[in-house]
Amino acid sequence: MSLAVAADATVPVEAARRRTFAIISHPDAGKTTLTEKFLLYAGAVAEAGAVKARAGRRRATSDWMALEQQRGISITSTVLQFTYRDHVVNLLDTPGHRDFSEDTYRVLAAADAAVMVLDVAKGVEAQTRKLFEVCRARSLPVLTFLNKYDRPGRDPLELLDEIERQIGLRPTPVTWPVGIPGDFRGVLDRRDGSFVRYRRTAHGATAALEERLSPDRAAAEEGDAWRQAHEACALLDEVGATPDLASFLAGESSPVFAGSALTNFGVQHLLDAVVDLAPPATSRPDDAGSHRPLEAPFAGFVFKIQANMDPAHRDHVAFVRVCSGRFTRGMTLVHGPSGRPFSTKYAASIFGSERDTIDVAYPGDVVGLVNAGGLQIGDTLYEAEPVAFPPIATFAPELFASARPRDTGRHKQFHRGLTQLEREGVVQVLRDPDGDPVPVLAAVGAMQFEVFAHRLAHEFGAVADLSPAPYRAARRTDRRTAEQLRNLRGARVLARADGTLLALFDSPYQLQRLEQDHPDWCLDPVVGAGEAP
Ligand code: G4P
Repeated sequence: MSLAVAADATVPVEAARRRTFAIISHPDAGKTTLTEKFLLYAGAVAEAGAVKARAGRRRATSDWMALEQQRGISITSTVLQFTYRDHVVNLLDTPGHRDFSEDTYRVLAAADAAVMVLDVAKGVEAQTRKLFEVCRARSLPVLTFLNKYDRPGRDPLELLDEIERQIGLRPTPVTWPVGIPGDFRGVLDRRDGSFVRYRRTAHGATAALEERLSPDRAAAEEGDAWRQAHEACALLDEVGATPDLASFLAGESSPVFAGSALTNFGVQHLLDAVVDLAPPATSRPDDAGSHRPLEAPFAGFVFKIQANMDPAHRDHVAFVRVCSGRFTRGMTLVHGPSGRPFSTKYAASIFGSERDTIDVAYPGDVVGLVNAGGLQIGDTLYEAEPVAFPPIATFAPELFASARPRDTGRHKQFHRGLTQLEREGVVQVLRDPDGDPVPVLAAVGAMQFEVFAHRLAHEFGAVADLSPAPYRAARRTDRRTAEQLRNLRGARVLARADGTLLALFDSPYQLQRLEQDHPDWCLDPVVGAGEAP
């Protein structure tokens, strides 16, 4: 440890109070509603409805995501911090749109746990599965919330079965619904066998009224609904579906809570579980696998960059997850990749376009560094001894399009925008090492192309013509194999900014054949969820 910066004994105490998590769900499962209800239960808003109002203000003051407004979707991520039961909860919001998921992957790199929200009428949906894969790759503990019990839905036992079969996570209910979906009375709390009865409040704007009843009273008052819940729980006991902290923390089992975010039923149980079960901020391994202790001097990494959030200022914000030490605004850090000093005078907590100056932050917290033009996703910032955290994986692209400026006179603006949006990770940009100047954009979802084109036009004044490219499969390759592929029809080799060579194929069958015929060629799966740090 450096003598210049002494270890700070308050840091582990503050880190132990932190819970940093993200909500993963398919669009419309209820993520926004649940977020808002967390704020309500934490006392951060007096009445539900405030988040949407805030979101409305954000839209009114920001044109850079006018696309968000047109589509009624959420593309930008925000970080919400609130206190609950003397804990500091950092809720990392993730984009809701099905297609815009690359950003979500990166946000999950900064989380210590996730809450998976399922709509009980729909169960496990495509986006849930995809996002869960990222949680699995990072062994993130996942809490599950079965949402929308206030309206008709599927049998909860069937949903548990689906979670286990489709995503391989062992569901272990903590609470169990009493009453059928659509006639939801409350939950059986498996921890003590009691019944928690809910009564809704007008529009769910304030906390649901809650009453805890003994099993005997519940049996007398709820009749069949209680008996059925009781039987289902006996079955869960029999098959050993009992919450278990060790396997939850290892990302193998998931405590399940039933409820309805709209009517607030079950929201408090879930928020309590975030505090009681989800892990506190702990030290993170560096790229050599060793752990810099929490109380060591400051270190953190950039997991997200967003430019031009506020059109009046045309600024550039880097979101940094604190991993060790105490952050104090104004401290000078070292930018890992360049070794240059980095001033943190303009540090803020950011929610949409609203920002408050942040003075101090601890492990688990997220600091928004404004005017952070030199920073890139994955960069480490530190104080005292050097440290480098592993890079944040870029994801296997599934869609490709070549991009040209419509007006060749705006070539410069086009390339400036291309470079900036690439750095922000809006799309991946692939270039031909053999000199074809037309870049190929690569993305996980089509929405990324739309955001790229929209921002290029509105922020950089260059309209892009995008034409879909025919590639259907991508592999990471090396120079030797690239030489072999050079003259092959239906294949092309392009380079990412980090120098990685990607081989793109028009047909997955052609790729399959090449893999069979040339087992010695380098055709590795592109870094993806499975290889996230
Ligand atoms: P998302 O962020 O995951 O995309 O979902 P969001 O919270 O926006 O919820 C999607 C829709 O589902 C909203 O209805 C919301 O009110 C509704 N919803 C969320 N939780 C529950 C619940 O527990 N029960 C019921 N019945 N509905 C729920 P909407 O009509 O699309 O929007 P709004 O007009 O209500 O805002």
